[in-house]
Amino acid sequence: MNIKDIAKLCGVSPSTVSKILHNKDSNISVETRKKVLEVIKEYQYVPYSKVINSAAPKTNMIGVLVSGDMYGGQEFLYAIEAAAAREGYSIILCNTQGEEDKIQKYWGVLENKGVDGIISVCQDVELPENGKIPKVQILGKKRENSKNDTADIYFEMQEAGYAAANYLLEKGHRKIACLLREDDTDIKAGCLLAYKERFISPDKEWIFLGTDEDIMNIGIARCLGEEVTAVICADMEIGNILYEKLRERGDTIPNKISVISARDHKMAERICPPMTAVHIPTNEIGEAAVGALIEIVEGRKPAYECRKRFELKIIERGSVKKPANHDQGKKIVVVGSMNMDCIINVSHIPTGGETVRSGNIVSLPGGKGANQAVGAGRLEGLVYMIGRLGNDSDGKEIYNSLVNSGVHTDGVVFDENIPTGKAYINVPPDGESTIVIYGGANEKLDRSQVRQYAQLLDDAAYCLLTLEIAEETVEYTIQKCKKKNVEVILKPSSVEKMKESLFENIDYFIPNEKEVKQLIPGDATIEEKADILLSKGVKNVIITLGHKGCYLKNAEYERYFPAADFYPLDTTGAADAFISAFAVALSEGHEILYAIRFASYAAGVSITRQGVQPAMADRKGLALYQEEINSFT
Ligand code: RIB
Repeated sequence: MNIKDIAKLCGVSPSTVSKILHNKDSNISVETRKKVLEVIKEYQYVPYSKVINSAAPKTNMIGVLVSGDMYGGQEFLYAIEAAAAREGYSIILCNTQGEEDKIQKYWGVLENKGVDGIISVCQDVELPENGKIPKVQILGKKRENSKNDTADIYFEMQEAGYAAANYLLEKGHRKIACLLREDDTDIKAGCLLAYKERFISPDKEWIFLGTDEDIMNIGIARCLGEEVTAVICADMEIGNILYEKLRERGDTIPNKISVISARDHKMAERICPPMTAVHIPTNEIGEAAVGALIEIVEGRKPAYECRKRFELKIIERGSVKKPANHDQGKKIVVVGSMNMDCIINVSHIPTGGETVRSGNIVSLPGGKGANQAVGAGRLEGLVYMIGRLGNDSDGKEIYNSLVNSGVHTDGVVFDENIPTGKAYINVPPDGESTIVIYGGANEKLDRSQVRQYAQLLDDAAYCLLTLEIAEETVEYTIQKCKKKNVEVILKPSSVEKMKESLFENIDYFIPNEKEVKQLIPGDATIEEKADILLSKGVKNVIITLGHKGCYLKNAEYERYFPAADFYPLDTTGAADAFISAFAVALSEGHEILYAIRFASYAAGVSITRQGVQPAMADRKGLALYQEEINSFT
């Protein structure tokens, strides 16, 4: 069998086969190359290894090019050396310092030594286009145009910046400084991406890129002059210097300031407190590089099939904790009901004397008050709950749902004598659900409990109320709110009448269409009924209209808002999602029109999932729609 036979078998020209055999195949498609190599292998024409090493016998030597500045270079080196030794190879090390002419020079040296292959641990360098020597490149960033003759083993330094910033943001940090080296632009980009996803515009002064000297003399002082609560360091060296400076100032880590390194190092475990860091799996990467090179050298795989990306992960140690003053909006207190919802999916809502079967029943935490608190908590609001649960498994499940959503449960009481409230909710495939409520412990949420926890209202900005608890309790809470300058957001529910005196102290009244009809029967239009409510003393009326959106009327505005465009799976609790998001937006200082747009999207997200509390949007999820929210009219 000769080269022509191979060409015939592959349906290509002999020169194509020849180019592939001699690795001069940059113009040949990946598929053609693959096919030719498979045929060569199948017919054992000439072992691939012999072809590529035809000029020289195998030496079992691997050349390793390093550039002193590639972070983790030493770790990669150790890993490469160990893995090579295990496979019976030794290494020849060349320090190129990342300089083009040195790379050329050492490449020639390694070629003359007859190395079987070369591994480069240099970022941003072009290796010589020399088809004879198999090559693997370890990179901290994916190459735009990978080359067929090189196996790229890579990770993304941008991911390190993103992971570090995201980790701090999730802990609640908002005032985050970065101390990075001049060429850490990928880490910076990753940090900025994490901020952007949460719509946080970082203070530019706090993102410092410079030489080691600049970082020591200017960067640290500039960042720490401000009230930052966390710092992302480029690496452990900078982290160590920062530790020293913080100690000199008498600041404790992480109580006063949290510190994270965008690059991990063995040393991170030995310092005090051990430093949380983004781990680059240097051992695995080094091993993979050797493995890939041997695959190519021994003809088992072409280089382009050996490419591999490595993920980075955070190693939690002890240098990060939540900020002391978690930077949230103003305080929101919810005084309201908590139920275990028994959600029953039905083909249609049964009418008098009718029985329908359900193929799906689930129990999930609910209740208008708890829903609002969970909704606000998920959106990272500073929210406290005052409410009452039975001392039973339902009560505990609801309590856990509150805690897991970041709600402060100081005002939640477990009643020994009465079960947790329940709601039996029939959900038809389309249309509105119907709810039957058993009040249970909610009925015992009275003025004495509100009085007991009234100090929670002291520094609050908003209080969320519904009429799923006793009207007398609501009335008492409103009085407390007025004394303490807390704005009242109230949703009427399950009531045909409300005490007239309540209206004049309601800052935001948020009924749905049916609730408006119950409170103000008659043929007047929505707009006219909103006027009636305003005349009773309500400051802002927002009537939620389901898929038609909502209507706002106050002294300044009178306008309809469309609903955010989401496909409904279960609309139960959409108003709770709306109200919680509305309160969070106000608590963060947004004006009412923005708060309504933000709330419309929170409600929209919630109807795409089953249940109420599990369906509530979290901040990150809602942030995906931020551009739409900003431009929503
Ligand atoms: O608004 C929805 C809620 O109303 C349900 O979670 C149910 O418990 C009832 O309170």
